[in-house]
This record gives sequence, structure tokens and C-alpha cells, in this order.
Amino acid sequence: MQDYKELLSEILIDEDTLQKRVAELGAEISADYQGNENLLLICILRGGVPFMVDLSRHITVPHMMDFMAVSSYGAGKRESDGNVRVTFDLQTNIKDKDVLLVEDIVDSGNTIASVLGMLETRQPASLKVCALLDKAERREAVVPIHYRGFTIPNKFVFGYGLDLDEYYRNLRFVGVVDLEKYNPD
Ligand code: PRP
Repeated sequence: MQDYKELLSEILIDEDTLQKRVAELGAEISADYQGNENLLLICILRGGVPFMVDLSRHITVPHMMDFMAVSSYGAGKRESDGNVRVTFDLQTNIKDKDVLLVEDIVDSGNTIASVLGMLETRQPASLKVCALLDKAERREAVVPIHYRGFTIPNKFVFGYGLDLDEYYRNLRFVGVVDLEKYNPD
């Protein structure tokens, strides 16, 4: 796999800006859920992992974490359609829990819309969404984003959880990929 520097056309959100915003989101969530004993963060694998880990460390309210993975039916590799299926389910019963879904990016909105619909049937006490990145101009499904890190333009981005063919999730910033320079084996 190529060095990320060969593919990076620009740093969209640098590490300091990201960390500052994650801290702000954590403070906002901590205030909103003050006194709550049932807060459960749910990370949608895999892109949400770095964000959820960092966010969690800025949430001062005691909380639990769980993980789930979904995959799209019949969609292209870099986009989702309206249907997702659960490939790895939660280990937690979310009934009566205050659930906060944590996502790295909302693009079409189809993933979040589908996951919200599914989780709603499990009767959580509340269900909210925290997304680091909102690629708003790509939206197809109307979805609530209660906590939003950044609204970003319609560019292919990687880093801080977001991948290019599963690589580069470890980058500490969000960068724009120059796909013309990408030479997959
Ligand atoms: C990405 C991202 C969201 C979804 C957003 O996941 O983490 O879950 O796409 O797209 P949408 O709003 O158009 O549905 P992806 O399927 O790439 O899996 P990953 O998290 O493992 O990278």
C-alpha cells in the first residue's frame, strides 16, 4: 500500500482542530446527559472506532460502550443504498438505555437511517446520533444528527477512522484523497 503522502491532496481537518472539536462534543454530551446512568455509546464499525474512543474520554458522565457492524445490500463498494444488514450485533440489551450512536461520517444517510429504524424496535429510552463528519450535500435519507463535528464538502476523505480500501484509518487528521494518484495492486 502506498504511503499516504503520495495520495494526500490536502489536509481537510488537522489534528488540533479535530481534537478540539471532539473535546467540545464530549463536553456538550456530558452536559446533556448529566446525572444519567444509562448512557450507552454505540460505535458502528469500523470507521467510528478512533472517534468514539477519543470522544468517550471527553465524556465525564459514566457510560457504557458497545459495537455493531453493518453492511449494505447490493451497493457499490464506496456507497450504500437504503438497506443494511447487521453483520455483528450488539452484545447489550438496549431496552431502556439512552443510546448515542457514534459515526465517523454521514454520507447518503442510508446507514444511519437503517440502523436507527432497527434500534428503535428494541425500545431504547432515547436514541441520538453523534457524527464527526457530515457530507450534507450527498444526503438521500433524512436523518437526525444531534451532535455534529464538521460539515464537509463532497470529496473523498480518509484518516481518523475513514479508510481507502481499509487502509489509512490510523491517520490523525482527515485528508482529501487524490484518487488519480492511487495505484491499487
Ligand atoms: C461508512 C461510514 C458510515 C457509512 C456512511 O462506513 O462509517 O457507516 O459509510 O455512509 P452512508 O451515509 O452513505 O450510509 P463503511 O460502509 O465505509 O464501513 P467502515 O466504517 O467499515 O469503513
